[in-house]
Amino acid sequence: MTTVPLVSASLRRLEGKVALITGGASGIGEATARLFSKHGAQVVIADIQDEMGHSICKDLNKSTASYVHCDTTKEKDIENAVNTTVSKYGKLDIMFNNAGIVGVNKTNILENKLSEFEEVIKVNLIGVFLGTKHASRVMIPARRGSIINTASVCGSIGGGASHACTSSKHAVLGLMKNTAVELGPYGIRVNCVSPYVVATPLAKKFFKLDDEGIQGVYSNLKGVNLVPEDVAEAALYLGSDESKYVSGHNLVVDGGFTVGNSGFCIFEQSV
Ligand SMILES: NC(=O)c1ccc[n+]([C@@H]2O[C@H](COP(=O)([O-])OP(=O)(O)OC[C@H]3O[C@@H](n4cnc5c(N)ncnc54)[C@H](O)[C@@H]3O)[C@@H](O)[C@H]2O)c1
Repeated sequence: MTTVPLVSASLRRLEGKVALITGGASGIGEATARLFSKHGAQVVIADIQDEMGHSICKDLNKSTASYVHCDTTKEKDIENAVNTTVSKYGKLDIMFNNAGIVGVNKTNILENKLSEFEEVIKVNLIGVFLGTKHASRVMIPARRGSIINTASVCGSIGGGASHACTSSKHAVLGLMKNTAVELGPYGIRVNCVSPYVVATPLAKKFFKLDDEGIQGVYSNLKGVNLVPEDVAEAALYLGSDESKYVSGHNLVVDGGFTVGNSGFCIFEQSV
């Protein structure tokens, strides 16, 4: 007979787990830090916005959350963030490589400076590479772990962000697939979450929109608005044991945006 788990047991889905979240001081990372903490995880926020990071930790229970300054483009910083997490909480179960930037909003490649392109690649791709590398360093001996990278709908379609951001997110999906194959034999899962436009400081600045303006601009799914907490829920699933056999997966949180093409569609779009 199948045993149905008690509802109360599933309320705290990360009980006993330790998570490190890059870019945890704002937007999607902040929402995830708060949700992971609510679900019983010990959370370390790694970011370059020290004041905001400390303030979130103060807001969460002090014994379950802490902040570490970490520029994800610097290997020493990532190494230190992972080591700090392990020395403070004894292990690392979930690495959320989430820190990212979108770059300048230029639609003409001729105006794109090499330095602008490189800056985005450094944070969005090299940062994820370094996070994956150093998380693996401690997860491999433990023979378990969940690595989650924030990619984007721009990881599978063109035209939604800067050249650098689109390129970097496609590359993050490639890195996720390669590392999922390499690390699977060690019991480590690697996945991505890929959000559509979410009203965070990053997106509001890039699209020059306020909270209200950004909602539903290009959305396929009507009647609901994507918020950072929705992406956090996807990360919660990938970090929890409920996804214990899910690896190499890109969990798209886009209301069906990337499976259609509004330019060629037989269905009525304004119902
Ligand atoms: N908001 C969206 O519409 C959207 C859509 C798809 C993907 N994403 C991705 O989601 C992730 C989170 O972005 P967000 O929307 O929450 O933006 P955000 O600006 O609210 O948060 C990003 C955080 O990353 C931090 N960060 C930036 N560079 C860093 C570095 N070098 N080292 C450490 N931390 C750094 C920032 O300080 C900030 O706290 C990014 O990877 C972004 O590309 C966002």
